[in-house]
Amino acid sequence: METVYRKMQLLLLLLTCLWSHVASQHRLAVDICTAKPKDIPVNPICIYRNPEKKPQEDAGPGSDPETIPASTNPRVWELSKANSRFAVNFYKNLTSSRNTIENVFMSPISISTAFAMTKLGACGNTLQQLMTVFKFDSISAKTSDQIHFFFAKLNCRLYKKINKSAELISANRLFGEKSLVFNETYQNISEVVYGAKLWPLNFKEKPESSRATINNWVANKTENLIKEVIPEGGIDQNTVLVLVNTIYFKGNWKSKFPIENTQMEPFFRTPSDSCLVPTMYLENFFRYANIPSSQVQVLELPYKGDDITMVLILPFEGKPLAQVEQELTADKLEGWLNALKTANPAVHLPRFKIDDSFSLKEKLQQMGLKDLFDHGHASLPGMIAGSQADLYVSEAFHKASLEVNEEGSEASAATAVMATFRSFRRDRLVFRADRPFMVLIREVSINSILFMGRVADVCSLNPSVEE
Ligand SMILES: *[C@@H]1O[C@H](CO)[C@@H](O)[C@H](O)[C@H]1NC(C)=O
Ligand SMILES: *[C@@H]1O[C@H](CO)[C@@H](O)[C@H](O)[C@H]1NC(C)=O
Ligand SMILES: *[C@@H]1O[C@H](CO)[C@@H](O)[C@H](O)[C@H]1NC(C)=O
Ligand SMILES: *[C@@H]1O[C@H](CO)[C@@H](O)[C@H](O)[C@H]1NC(C)=O
Ligand SMILES: *[C@@H]1O[C@H](CO)[C@@H](O)[C@H](O)[C@H]1NC(C)=O
Repeated sequence: METVYRKMQLLLLLLTCLWSHVASQHRLAVDICTAKPKDIPVNPICIYRNPEKKPQEDAGPGSDPETIPASTNPRVWELSKANSRFAVNFYKNLTSSRNTIENVFMSPISISTAFAMTKLGACGNTLQQLMTVFKFDSISAKTSDQIHFFFAKLNCRLYKKINKSAELISANRLFGEKSLVFNETYQNISEVVYGAKLWPLNFKEKPESSRATINNWVANKTENLIKEVIPEGGIDQNTVLVLVNTIYFKGNWKSKFPIENTQMEPFFRTPSDSCLVPTMYLENFFRYANIPSSQVQVLELPYKGDDITMVLILPFEGKPLAQVEQELTADKLEGWLNALKTANPAVHLPRFKIDDSFSLKEKLQQMGLKDLFDHGHASLPGMIAGSQADLYVSEAFHKASLEVNEEGSEASAATAVMATFRSFRRDRLVFRADRPFMVLIREVSINSILFMGRVADVCSLNPSVEE
């Protein structure tokens, strides 16, 4: 017994040594989360300097220095606000191009991050348009000089795992054609700042198997929620570099919806078109706001750990969601979030699962990102060594998925639609999401929008009642 124990100890020691050896080999020289700007030479090939002139445009209520949360770097805060402005703008562009009863779901922070990695290699008008479309043109010159450094700091803040109760993980990776030599500085910055190592693939001779490799990597990083992010034909012999970001979130509600409360209730796709869907029910204390001027009710449901929440934006009855979307601005959204106060609503929320996927190219082009997608005008000299190769971005894909149920978000699909006795108080504040609403998943302390979507048609999402 004793000797077995000894051997185990020895083995453990050996394994520990081996592990620390392996770990130290892979450890980057600098940890971006603790680094100072001077510690890392994060100088991309071109730096976009803001023409320092128009602070008033974005001097909304949130840009006062005193509204920056405690222990938050003001530059990180600035970037987070820029991301929110992009999120709202992109959401508006996306929803306005869809039928009003079509569901929409996406992760703006994932889009911003993938294009921030692209920006590392960009110059000229291409760089300037990236700054403008992603709303980095409004940030101070000091922040934009070191935008990648502070972007990394923002990521450190978002993805540091304090509590095991909610999981928020992001991963980045570059996949490059193996016959090419990529600029070493570009690779170094991309790895240190975004954790994105270069993975050489044989795009030229094996485009399909390269596509499978990337799609499998993405599926692995997203617990198999996102498969086939690059559709068939998305990679061909001319593909040079693929930049990928993934984000994965799983959280349990701080207050679960009792499964026995779930029952079939109508959901009104339009005032005259409804269907019965499994609807969860809960009475509890939540942060809530009623905004008559915008005709919306806003409800915040926290996940365990409290640092990540789901925000539901439900238009008043008779107010179409499409109109709320048209009128939406980042400042307005911030105002709604700032108006949240503790209340005790009776919450009716359908259980649902949304999948969405679309090409980003057309949307971003419409928003002004023209040169990057234009093989005649794109300027991406920083990516390949020697820099003569004229690169442009031929496509960009996005795919997102959200499941909401009694347990939280992305939990196993248990179906129990059961009638439970409910006591209604006549004067009770009611939040009944029985018509199209907007949904955000946000990180609270720095107010970053992680996911954003529209739940307009629950009818098509709940294929059938379990019988
Ligand atoms: C790589 O990029 C850096 C700027 O980030 C540039 O100074 C350098 O000349 C490039 N190297 C090659 C080999 O192109
Ligand atoms: C998309 O956004 C841009 C501004 O960023 C705006 O000019 C354009 O009209 C929008 N397009 C749609 C279809 O909403
Ligand atoms: C890139 O990083 C490697 C390893 O840290 C280092 O040896 C090399 O000098 C760096 N290259 C550049 C161009 O920064
Ligand atoms: C992802 O890959 C790792 C390492 O190969 C494996 O341990 C893990 O189970 C995979 N995850 C999924 C969701 O496939
Ligand atoms: C983890 O969550 C619990 C309960 O939500 C909280 O009391 C605790 O302070 C959290 N731990 C950390 C390190 O934030």
